[in-house]
Amino acid sequence: MLLLNWLEWQMKKGEIYMAIKKGFLITLEGGEGGGKTTQAVSLYKRLKKAGKDVVIFREPGCTVISEQIREVVLSAKNKNIAFTTEVLLFQAARAQIYEELVLPSMRAGKVIVMDRSRDSSVVYQGMVRGFGKKMIEQLNNISTSRTLPDLTLLLDVPVNKGLKRRENSGTINRLDMEAKNFHNKVRKAYLELAEEDKSGRWRVINAAKSIENVEEQMWEAISDKLGL
Ligand code: TYD
Repeated sequence: MLLLNWLEWQMKKGEIYMAIKKGFLITLEGGEGGGKTTQAVSLYKRLKKAGKDVVIFREPGCTVISEQIREVVLSAKNKNIAFTTEVLLFQAARAQIYEELVLPSMRAGKVIVMDRSRDSSVVYQGMVRGFGKKMIEQLNNISTSRTLPDLTLLLDVPVNKGLKRRENSGTINRLDMEAKNFHNKVRKAYLELAEEDKSGRWRVINAAKSIENVEEQMWEAISDKLGL
């Protein structure tokens, strides 16, 4: 008998969409200053040029509600935010973007480029700040309706170089202000995730290289998977 409560349905939905989907989800992940945002935009343009039906999103944000949550969770003013609040706000923003944008795009067969998604929570909140990887993955499964990326590109850059780039860009958020040790842990955690992955969805990109070189490395990984 198929009688699901709301939470079970929420979790099941992604699996059903994945089973019938024609979409392809690419996430860009990594620590500060790896150039994810610039690279996400050029990747979007290149995929469009290659004739793909492509959309681009970022986390946290993109829907009206998720952008409001983004303001609360990232504002440098909110230094006294409780850690559990931080964890749940990232998940809340995620639930909204998956419901409104990601899952419908998957169903519509689009290529989706996302600047951060579930693995950011695994790394920042789960591994570095100690909420626990397993618990975060459970929350991720709820907020994404158990959707996993088809490809995750880790834009890896040495911490000093990343932080220098970030300083030069002039946009500093609450998490950028963490101590260098925090950023070292973030880098290490991402590399660990990529290394222990058995699904083959992770690719490590050397993001210390020039913008053009990084673009090429990413394109190679994508054309490999998408058969371009
Ligand atoms: P953002 O200004 O988008 O910068 P960037 O992605 O270029 O670093 O900042 C997002 C910040 O939020 C970033 O410091 C990582 C953090 N973050 C988490 O800690 N957990 C999450 O689940 C997400 C999506 C982001």
